[in-house]
Amino acid sequence: MSKSIITNSFQETQKQGELLAKELKGGEIICLEGELGAGKTTFTQGILKELQVKGPYISPTFLIMKNYPITKKQKFNIYHIDAYRVKSQDILSLGWKEISKDNNNILIIEWPERIKDILPQEVFWIKLKWIDDEKRLIQFF
Ligand SMILES: Nc1ncnc2c1ncn2[C@@H]1O[C@H](COP(=O)(O)OP(=O)(O)O)[C@@H](O)[C@H]1O
Ligand SMILES: [Mg+2]
Repeated sequence: MSKSIITNSFQETQKQGELLAKELKGGEIICLEGELGAGKTTFTQGILKELQVKGPYISPTFLIMKNYPITKKQKFNIYHIDAYRVKSQDILSLGWKEISKDNNNILIIEWPERIKDILPQEVFWIKLKWIDDEKRLIQFF
């Protein structure tokens, strides 16, 4: 594990997302593991903000996969996936093979452990844990 940090507000968790986003070159898959309310979507919002994605950042819960295409300001084609209710097969049928190997893309996945069998070896794995109402533990593996 390379880093482990405690955040004391949702803004601090967003900030962690922003910091990670600064490192992205294209082609990365960011896996956010954690229970409901742990802060996966909050962390994602920080990434999207840093990558100049125009809000609002709709939670993909009802969409499975939300795409934010490249714009003049936004240089990556971003996919935000919520695998809570799906099986690997559902993600495959959305064009996963092509999407996951394209270096113009950034993929952010909530509940990645549910589709572990189709994830490549090289991913950013981040675990969020609820400590109390305002505190979360964020582990970067
Ligand atoms: N330190 C913190 N980090 C992240 N979220 C926090 C924190 N403290 C409070 N919260 C709140 O917890 C909730 C986290 O929700 P969300 O990011 O949607 O979680 P998830 O996507 O993991 O279900 C939000 O309402 C957020 O405002
Ligand atoms: Mg969420």
